Amino acid sequence: MKIGLLGGTGNMGRGLTIRWALKHEILVGSRNLDKASRIAKGLSNLARGFYQSEMGGIITGVLNEDAVKESEVIVVTLPPKATVPVLSSLNANLRPSQIVISTVVPMMRKKELFYYSSLDPEGTKRDEMSAAERIQEIVGPSPVVSAFQTVPATYLSNIDAILNIDVLIAGNDELSINIVSRLVRDIPNLRPLRVGPLENSKWIESFTPLLINAAILNGLHDPSIRIVPWMPTSDEL
Ligand SMILES: NC(=O)c1ccc[n+]([C@@H]2O[C@H](COP(=O)([O-])OP(=O)(O)OC[C@H]3O[C@@H](n4cnc5c(N)ncnc54)[C@H](OP(=O)(O)O)[C@@H]3O)[C@@H](O)[C@H]2O)c1
Repeated sequence: MKIGLLGGTGNMGRGLTIRWALKHEILVGSRNLDKASRIAKGLSNLARGFYQSEMGGIITGVLNEDAVKESEVIVVTLPPKATVPVLSSLNANLRPSQIVISTVVPMMRKKELFYYSSLDPEGTKRDEMSAAERIQEIVGPSPVVSAFQTVPATYLSNIDAILNIDVLIAGNDELSINIVSRLVRDIPNLRPLRVGPLENSKWIESFTPLLINAAILNGLHDPSIRIVPWMPTSDEL
């Protein structure tokens, strides 16, 4: 697929790019074309060196607006503060057939710990919305799927790391959920788990500050999640 990452030069964008480049055509979006091209070239060299002849995709650096115009799937890997202004300015270029993936986690730091917050200032009528629902409001008919919030970018960027973790997925559109689930499965050992409609994105997003606090309070390094089912005993199988 042709996947465009908005703010794709950052930690999350680079991590997803390096993983998806095995199979897909990736457009690394940025506000600055030189920066996008430089980072895309570096990631491309890294991916080619690692995947060798298996590499089926390509990585190109583009402006964010071109990532929106040219992609089938658009991934929002922008900082929370930039998400509403950037998407509002690019919204006119979106087509209803394009899927928008939100990875965005709005959170704030109070003293040493993190708390889930909102993309909009407190006291405004949208301050109760999850980031994914707010993005859906901006991008209109293009379906938004919420995913990857609990996957640390460091895991993705470590191209050799085996990621036995789950990616919780919320969305309202069956077809786009299936496409995003396949994109998750394209990253070896990541397991997509559907958790309901887009309104459930707030629960996925709010997990991230908990994980970071768990790391801070318990001395863990980049924790993520794996939902473990109850294992039946051999008699019950
Ligand atoms: N980092 C993680 O481990 C992780 C995990 C799960 C989810 N997420 C989510 O992924 C998103 C990106 O996180 P990140 O750590 O990758 O962010 P980041 O590295 O700080 O920033 C990503 C990119 O956004 C662009 N950007 C920065 N400020 C901007 C502004 N004011 N206006 C427009 N563009 C701006 C920059 O690209 P250019 O300068 O090239 O335009 C930057 O490279 C966040 O919403 C985060 O919650 C992150």
